[in-house]
Amino acid sequence: MSTQPLKEVRVFSPATVANVACGFDVLGFCIDAPGDEIVARFSSQPGLRITKITGDGGRLPLDAKLNTAGVSAQALLRHLGKADLGIEMEIHKKMPFGSGLGSSAASAVGGAFVVNELLGAPLSRRQLLPFVVAGEAAADGAWHADNVAPCLLGGITLIRSNAELDVMNVPIPENLWAAVVHPDIVVLTKVAREIMPRHIQLETSTQQSGNLGGLLCGFFQSDYALIGRSLHDLIAEPHRQRLIPEFYRAKRAALAAGALGFSISGAGPSVFALCEGEAAARRAAAAVAEVFAAVPILATPYVSRVNPKGVHVIARA
Ligand code: HSE
Repeated sequence: MSTQPLKEVRVFSPATVANVACGFDVLGFCIDAPGDEIVARFSSQPGLRITKITGDGGRLPLDAKLNTAGVSAQALLRHLGKADLGIEMEIHKKMPFGSGLGSSAASAVGGAFVVNELLGAPLSRRQLLPFVVAGEAAADGAWHADNVAPCLLGGITLIRSNAELDVMNVPIPENLWAAVVHPDIVVLTKVAREIMPRHIQLETSTQQSGNLGGLLCGFFQSDYALIGRSLHDLIAEPHRQRLIPEFYRAKRAALAAGALGFSISGAGPSVFALCEGEAAARRAAAAVAEVFAAVPILATPYVSRVNPKGVHVIARA
């Protein structure tokens, strides 16, 4: 193994599905693709600078203080007492904005993770959590870890408390597949959060808790029927579905194609189905994409197992 110090690291930071129907702000899982690539290298100029962003249509700020990847990386560097260390960062956005695929979370995770790797990984993934949540909060103004946690830690993650960042991994059933479909429209997380109800009925809360508990038991026991019975969202979906054309038609199509359950991915407009087996996931993705195509809205399907790895290094120099 080389003893040369690293000069440059490139990471892949994948998309995530937050909420997973009944776990608003507390449950999420990671998928294989799409994802962002972020590069960090040492520089002789002090401080963290973002020198290049591609794939964002010119929308993202180069100012590290305003960019989710920059905010998480700077928070980490301050924590390590290395705020003046010269580092250049490049961000290659390879996932759409306002998509419900955890685009800002992927950048926030990638930013802190790539810098931590460049420095020889002084902190564990888990120790990076507060910095990546701070990066994500810079994008949507809310403090929730249901996208960043599965992106950083991989797999399915439950956040017992967002305030305390008490986060745990949940077992992934071996034959669990996800069909995620992104219709080409934009839903801003901020807007999707504003239309959430401020108060919910006691019966609604009771039923949602039952479903969340059932879903977790289903994951622990690889009980696909229980996963299907539990995958219902009585809180966000009834309000947010109106931001997604033909949502209920897409849901019926996914269930008719054999999906265990179907709901909105994060704040939307992407939607997801959980399925037993790859064939069912491919059928569900095709059926949902067909519904959007008839609107007509261009729809991109992503079929994947739950990705157990999360963010990872793809090149070092
Ligand atoms: N849990 C968040 C929400 C995810 O639904 O608003 C959005 O990134």
